[in-house]
Amino acid sequence: MPKMMITTILVFIFVLPFTFAELRVGFYTSTCPRAERIVREVVESHFSKDESIVGGLLRLHFHDCFVRGCDGSVLIDPTRTRTSEKKAGPNLTARGFEIIDDAKTWLEQECPSTVSCADILALATRDSVELAGGKWYSIPTGRKDGLLSDPALVNLPSPSLSVSDALPFFTAKGLTLEDMVTLLGGHTVGFAHCSMFQNRLEGNGDPSMDPALEQTLVQICEFKKRPNSDPLAFLDQNTSFLFDNQFYHQMILRRGVLHIDQQLALDPLSRNMVQNFAANDSFFQEKFAKAMIKLGSIGVLDSTDGDIRKNCRAFNIPL
Ligand code: HEM
Ligand SMILES: *[C@@H]1O[C@H](CO)[C@@H](O)[C@H](O)[C@H]1NC(C)=O
Ligand SMILES: *[C@@H]1O[C@H](CO)[C@@H](O)[C@H](O)[C@H]1NC(C)=O
Ligand SMILES: *[C@@H]1O[C@H](CO)[C@@H](O)[C@H](O)[C@H]1NC(C)=O
Repeated sequence: MPKMMITTILVFIFVLPFTFAELRVGFYTSTCPRAERIVREVVESHFSKDESIVGGLLRLHFHDCFVRGCDGSVLIDPTRTRTSEKKAGPNLTARGFEIIDDAKTWLEQECPSTVSCADILALATRDSVELAGGKWYSIPTGRKDGLLSDPALVNLPSPSLSVSDALPFFTAKGLTLEDMVTLLGGHTVGFAHCSMFQNRLEGNGDPSMDPALEQTLVQICEFKKRPNSDPLAFLDQNTSFLFDNQFYHQMILRRGVLHIDQQLALDPLSRNMVQNFAANDSFFQEKFAKAMIKLGSIGVLDSTDGDIRKNCRAFNIPL
């Protein structure tokens, strides 16, 4: 191998990772001291009207971080001339955008062009989880907003995967099996459309599903027979709006709505973790907070690859 090429490869391996932004807790302390307070107030006000925003924000943050990195690319609206991640398959149900818009509007008044949309999403998610009963954790900030939002880059795991087939999506982002099992605990809030689990109800049904749950889901999905309707079922059938470890308990009881969720409790790769989380809520909450910080650090941009959007739905320089 020519020396040049080896040098180039070494540069890629060792230098590139360090060009990513350094995140730190309190990044806005001097530039926008009230930034976290403002995000918190906006989230509180939305939550007081609609508890279900927690599921919306969590999933949005997850999708943001899993496509290119936590760079706010999930927030970009398609335009007449340019498409965006919102046009990709798993998009249609993503929600919570208006909360980010509200926080952004306020933050632009308070300290223009200072707080990134990617950070707003990370902070809003953290705050919403706490409002729903989860543990509060301090999160490092300083993310820049990305300059690209391409539906072709959206490659998210399908709910029909097995644990071992879902895992590579996480390891590709530097996350472990434990991180995956922990983060899927996010399914303790929020809901899924029938189209995401209906295959489990077909034929003789899925033998791994509690028959009582199957009956409930069949009834819910009956409405799907109407044109253009795709009803919702809670992912955690017991404490659907609480951020707690009940999700894992439900999986042990075979009350998983999504195939992947149910598999967590059955697969030898993950079932011990599920047992441990189901047995101890504080243990789950601690692990979840740590895993969220890892999730929130994926592929973060620095100022040479990103900027601070003035409107989270549009690039500063329209393309
Ligand atoms: C193997 C990985 C994952 C798969 C296959 C998966 C799949 C899904 C599916 C199919 C839905 C239902 C979407 C709908 O019908 O609207 C959903 C919802 C949701 N997911 Fe995941 N997910 C995964 C990982 C995660 C992670 C890591 C998080 C966050 C930590 C997360 C948070 C959520 C939340 C909160 C909802 C509810 C959304 C709402 O209420 O609008 N998921 N997920
Ligand atoms: C979501 O993606 C589908 C393609 O799978 C597209 O037809 C639809 O318009 C997108 N939804 C939104 C809100 O952009
Ligand atoms: C539902 O959750 C509550 C609170 O965590 C728990 O005490 C109860 O055992 C759960 N019920 C079922 C049927 O799982
Ligand atoms: C539950 O987890 C917490 C946090 O990891 C730990 O301090 C506590 O000892 C655990 N409780 C039990 C009963 O194992």
